[in-house]
Amino acid sequence: MGSLRLIKPLFFILAAAHFIFPTTSQPDFLFRTCSNNSNYTKNSTFSKNLSNVLLSISSNTRFNNYSFYNATSGHNPDRATALALCRGGVPLEQCRSCVYNSTLRITQDCPYQKEAAGWYQDCQIRYSNNSIYGMEDSSPQVFFWNLRTADDPVGFNDALWNLLDGLRKEAALGSSVLKSAWGGEKIRSPSMDTVYGLVDCYPDLSYLGCFDCLRNLQTIIPSCCNASIGVRLIATSCQLNYEFHPIYPLPPTPPPPPYSPPPPPSPLALLSPTSSPKPGTLMGKN
Ligand SMILES: *[C@@H]1O[C@H](CO)[C@@H](O)[C@H](O)[C@H]1NC(C)=O
Ligand SMILES: *[C@@H]1O[C@H](CO)[C@@H](O)[C@H](O)[C@H]1NC(C)=O
Ligand SMILES: *[C@@H]1O[C@H](CO)[C@@H](O)[C@H](O)[C@H]1NC(C)=O
Ligand SMILES: *[C@@H]1O[C@H](CO)[C@@H](O)[C@H](O)[C@H]1NC(C)=O
Ligand SMILES: *[C@@H]1O[C@H](CO)[C@@H](O)[C@H](O)[C@H]1NC(C)=O
Ligand SMILES: *[C@@H]1O[C@H](CO)[C@@H](O)[C@H](O)[C@H]1NC(C)=O
Ligand SMILES: *[C@@H]1O[C@H](CO)[C@@H](O)[C@H](O)[C@H]1NC(C)=O
Ligand SMILES: *[C@@H]1O[C@H](CO)[C@@H](O)[C@H](O)[C@H]1NC(C)=O
Ligand SMILES: *[C@@H]1O[C@H](CO)[C@@H](O)[C@H](O)[C@H]1NC(C)=O
Repeated sequence: MGSLRLIKPLFFILAAAHFIFPTTSQPDFLFRTCSNNSNYTKNSTFSKNLSNVLLSISSNTRFNNYSFYNATSGHNPDRATALALCRGGVPLEQCRSCVYNSTLRITQDCPYQKEAAGWYQDCQIRYSNNSIYGMEDSSPQVFFWNLRTADDPVGFNDALWNLLDGLRKEAALGSSVLKSAWGGEKIRSPSMDTVYGLVDCYPDLSYLGCFDCLRNLQTIIPSCCNASIGVRLIATSCQLNYEFHPIYPLPPTPPPPPYSPPPPPSPLALLSPTSSPKPGTLMGKN
């Protein structure tokens, strides 16, 4: 297993580079939205139930080893439900810290709103007086992207679309506690670089809810950030990110598949880049 030891430090370097050269200058806190259509007062029944669920979520992180947490408290019309999710590949300790911080930060940012959502570097959170468990919400769609574009945009987009199509299906097929997928795809020659992606849905969504939410984000890419070398898109129920380096350090096993040169592109493939799907080279998940 000597070769694995060679691979591991490489991932650390790539992971560190992520923080030195992020897609944009992304702070820990990315974005939040507070609904304007329902407010609560400081010591109302709702506010107590909301404190309960946020406390419950941050203590849940100590008892289960998933990166998804949900809690509900009270009865209509004062019922509060909260969901929190770490991105796929976030180490558990980092996840706990992010979720804990998010429960504090979201109520400071949205002090009287019955419905809110927040996104952080490693996790996201949402709560409401309405029933949100299992409900897809593809809004709002905020994006961060790198101004640099790929040197070979056609080959790049080809690889990117294969990657994102595969990850979207894999995430949607996930379990009720994990609907995240990550992996990499080699760009065809001459580039030979690998583009890495990470997609996450709240795992309480159905297959279709997750698939649809991620597809809504993916379809924005050509108009917002065509061929950008790094993009992060966020919606209430899902998010999508790709970069030229692994987004979180990949687990050291399994080793990457042996490299085999792709067939030279046919003239048809050059004329019509989206019509020539290549077999994926997804990796990363255990
Ligand atoms: C809430 O209202 C404020 C001020 O009217 C507005 O700026 C903000 O965009 C609204 N937020 C949402 C989520 O509608
Ligand atoms: C909630 O509070 C905000 C800020 O005070 C106000 O703009 C908004 O109209 C309120 N919404 C409702 C439904 O009362
Ligand atoms: C609200 O808080 C005040 C002071 O903290 C307290 O005196 C009052 O009883 C509280 N009201 C309710 C309905 O809990
Ligand atoms: C979570 O993981 C830790 C360390 O691997 C283990 O000790 C603990 O039993 C696990 N908890 C659950 C609920 O599986
Ligand atoms: C989330 O809530 C549902 C419904 O209350 C419950 O069945 C499920 O066990 C919870 N899942 C987690 C991961 O806490
Ligand atoms: C919701 O809050 C009210 C008021 O504090 C409390 O009486 C009730 O027990 C709470 N519900 C739950 C399930 O904790
Ligand atoms: C949530 O609060 C809003 C505004 O107060 C209300 O219209 C809505 O019916 C509430 N939802 C539930 C499930 O009670
Ligand atoms: C949580 O907040 C603490 C204190 O501000 C900070 O040191 C820590 O890095 C934060 N955790 C994450 C995951 O952002
Ligand atoms: C995106 O870039 C590719 C390659 O340059 C180009 O073929 C395509 O038309 C562009 N798409 C949009 C929507 O601009």
